[in-house]
Amino acid sequence: MTYIQRADSEFNPSRKSRFTHELAQHPLMQFEELKKLALRHPTVKYHSANIPRTQSLETVVKEAPSNMSLEDALKNIETSGTFVFIQNIQNDPTYGKLVNEILDEIEKDVHKSHRNMRKRQAWVFITSPGGTTPYHRDQESAHYFHIKGKKTFWLWRVSDRTIVTQEENEFFHGVYGLGKTKYQEAYMDNAFEFRIQPGDGVFFPYTAPHMVQNGKEEFAISFSVTHMTDEDFAIRRVYKINQLLRKFGIAPKDQGESRAVDNLKLAVHWILRTSLSPFVKNWKNA
Ligand SMILES: [Fe+2]
Repeated sequence: MTYIQRADSEFNPSRKSRFTHELAQHPLMQFEELKKLALRHPTVKYHSANIPRTQSLETVVKEAPSNMSLEDALKNIETSGTFVFIQNIQNDPTYGKLVNEILDEIEKDVHKSHRNMRKRQAWVFITSPGGTTPYHRDQESAHYFHIKGKKTFWLWRVSDRTIVTQEENEFFHGVYGLGKTKYQEAYMDNAFEFRIQPGDGVFFPYTAPHMVQNGKEEFAISFSVTHMTDEDFAIRRVYKINQLLRKFGIAPKDQGESRAVDNLKLAVHWILRTSLSPFVKNWKNA
């Protein structure tokens, strides 16, 4: 069974691309099944879906809470104004098998140009009509499968320095935080816009900024599988060292400007990680 339809030439782990799929018909992707998953799964977040594009996803549960139980929010998803985020569904015995089959298929494409795909995870998003997923970045690359409803999806190039500055990258990778990832309306001039419906898929490369708006007509379901590779870890590590250098008053070369300098930073990272990871939380998975 093949889960993703795309031409070979369409996929490059460093570039955005579209694909199609038939997961919208899969029994495990139906709302009733996902509702059961949400109610038994240990890692589910939910909050109001009626939030501005500038809302931080790090504080949204506290700043825009739902006023009902998860069960009621799901039962009334057409009107409850809720965003439900089911996290790490690869850990669910029923969903884990499907997630692994999809990731195994993706791995074959990824390994044509990147090494050692890992951090294999999967997520489900259930959104009331008109709900917004604010501008943000994630710590991985994602295959985003749209299952139900209609959405507009905006994506930005992570290499666009008018959108993602070097200093934002240093903060983002240095502390794994969104504190400097701030949306501005002017960003829309540089956005790639995708109008997606069931059967559509979007691949977005490692840490690419994105934002999603659900249509007003019906609630939506999307599912994504994510991963990181050696190449992604190398990017993260160079920025982490850059952040340290900046703390010492040094303006570092941007990641990717010089392979020799990046390699030197990776060596420094290895030494620091080896010595600090037993003591400093931030370096454990660095
Ligand atoms: Fe995301």
